[in-house]
Amino acid sequence: MNKTILITGGAGFIGSHVVRQFVINYPKYKIINLDKLTYAGNLENLKDIENHSNYKFIKADINIESQIFDIFKQYQIDGVIHLAAESHVDRSITNPTEFILTNIVGTVNLLNAAKESWKDNFQQKLFYHISTDEVYGSLEDEGYFTENTPYDPRSPYSASKASSDHLVRAYYNTYNLPVIISNCSNNYGPNQFPEKLIPLAINNIFSGKPIPVYGKGENIRDWLYVIDHARAIDLIYHKGKSGETYNIGGNNEWKNLDLIKKLCEIMDKKLGKPTGTSSGLIQFVKDRSGHDLRYAIDSTKLLNALGWKPSVTFEEGLQKTVDWYMDNFSWLKNVITGDYEKYYTRQYQSR
Ligand code: NAD
Ligand code: DAU
Repeated sequence: MNKTILITGGAGFIGSHVVRQFVINYPKYKIINLDKLTYAGNLENLKDIENHSNYKFIKADINIESQIFDIFKQYQIDGVIHLAAESHVDRSITNPTEFILTNIVGTVNLLNAAKESWKDNFQQKLFYHISTDEVYGSLEDEGYFTENTPYDPRSPYSASKASSDHLVRAYYNTYNLPVIISNCSNNYGPNQFPEKLIPLAINNIFSGKPIPVYGKGENIRDWLYVIDHARAIDLIYHKGKSGETYNIGGNNEWKNLDLIKKLCEIMDKKLGKPTGTSSGLIQFVKDRSGHDLRYAIDSTKLLNALGWKPSVTFEEGLQKTVDWYMDNFSWLKNVITGDYEKYYTRQYQSR
């Protein structure tokens, strides 16, 4: 069946994998990628599919309501997969306002445009909002986040994402807008901007720079290979039930320090360096303010309802990720010039 799907944030890390998957798997769909191209958006991520006839890129800002309404007027959009966001916790600590604007106001602009344009018939329409496990707060040693865990966001980033989740649900309850939300754990893989832990460490190892580990490196994250997240999004978009929430996780918890040591081991082998070379770069630095201790997702609902589970092991995913950054050194070089240097100095010099 032909459909036009608007994917927001498609030039970013996860969005670019989702766009590629939809463009290739559904040649009869028209895929519109709406992205503002902030520091995190990069059309290089989509070079391989940019000439496909079912793909179109539109540079627009979800914070500007008129731009969003115009796109909904110009195209008969059947579905939205909303990934555009400010996504980095550390940046939300230094500049929360940008997160409130994009993650909350931007989401409301999209909800309003969808509601207005679909108002005569919500049949076969879907607003699918991509969210994070961080809305559930922080776990101690025991337990997992389920879809029923009460929200307890603790950073400006997670508070802005929690707020957008509440608004999406409010539009479902108040206006019957067909919506789905999924909340995913930490992603890693090709094309991730080197402000996030794994690509930052890979980049620093390449250039022999210290690897900054916050606090004692005891915080725990549940890591999922980005292509498995894109697979889950595809499945949920097509088979998920309106009004439902689905948790997506890797069932793969790692203490930050153990993860970095594992990555160092892999990098030493790939770079032909003696074991222990890269781990010698580890440097403990001042902790992140309000640093959540542990995230761990229970994705049983998604397994039982739609049969999804991760397909890539962590060892395999890390190897593929390191290989990708080694093979795409020019991508990395392009994104770490200029503004990145300023960001890095501001973020790490006083730690
Ligand atoms: P990213 O920062 O790599 O990409 C975000 C994209 O959104 C960029 O292309 C950027 O240009 C675009 N964007 C930002 N502001 C915009 C605006 N005002 N208008 C239009 N486009 C704008 O983020 P990511 O890591 O790919 O995350 C994508 C989504 O998935 C986010 O909603 C994030 O909250 C969620 N998420 C991320 C993770 C993760 O581990 N990275 C995990 C769970 C959920
Ligand atoms: O859980 C899902 C979330 O995962 C997403 O919603 C966010 O968009 C995404 O950025 C990610 O958030 P985290 O804060 O968990 O990811 P980050 O890569 O920034 O950090 C991972 C862990 O590593 C965290 O405990 C902080 C720590 N860290 C991070 C950086 C950048 C360090 O120790 N040193 C660092 O330099």
